[in-house]
Amino acid sequence: MDIVYNLLVVLHLLGMALLVSGIVTRWLGPAEQSGKIMLWGASAQVVTGLALAGLASAGVAGGGVIHMKIGVKLLIAVVVLVLAHILWRRPDTGRGIFHALAGATLVNVVIASMWV
Ligand code: HEM
Repeated sequence: MDIVYNLLVVLHLLGMALLVSGIVTRWLGPAEQSGKIMLWGASAQVVTGLALAGLASAGVAGGGVIHMKIGVKLLIAVVVLVLAHILWRRPDTGRGIFHALAGATLVNVVIASMWV
């Protein structure tokens, strides 16, 4: 089961890379595709994150789970997903939504790495 868990970590990190590339693409200009990229990345984070947390909570693979940390990450990731959906449906939405998405993503990266 460790191999499945480790592959999920790979997908989780690639999902984050996708999300951040969408953010950078939009940052640099009004790219049509950035909404779709961010939406795919945000969806990947929620799906792979839940799978990782599920396996770790069940004690099947991975280390111990800090439930508060996972809960906060899930909440922020759902906010990111909703914001990505808004930006995908309405690419001309004001910069505020985009800045909120970028900030929330950054907060989740910091939580993932520093809440130990
Ligand atoms: C925008 C959303 C998210 C971002 C940017 C993000 C980012 C990250 C990063 C950078 C790591 C690696 C940290 C490390 O190994 O030190 C990680 C690990 C992890 N994340 Fe997320 N995450 C997100 C959403 C979620 C969600 C929604 C969940 C669960 C509900 C979750 C559960 C986990 C778990 C269980 C690990 C540990 C993997 C391991 O064993 O190393 N993540 N996340």
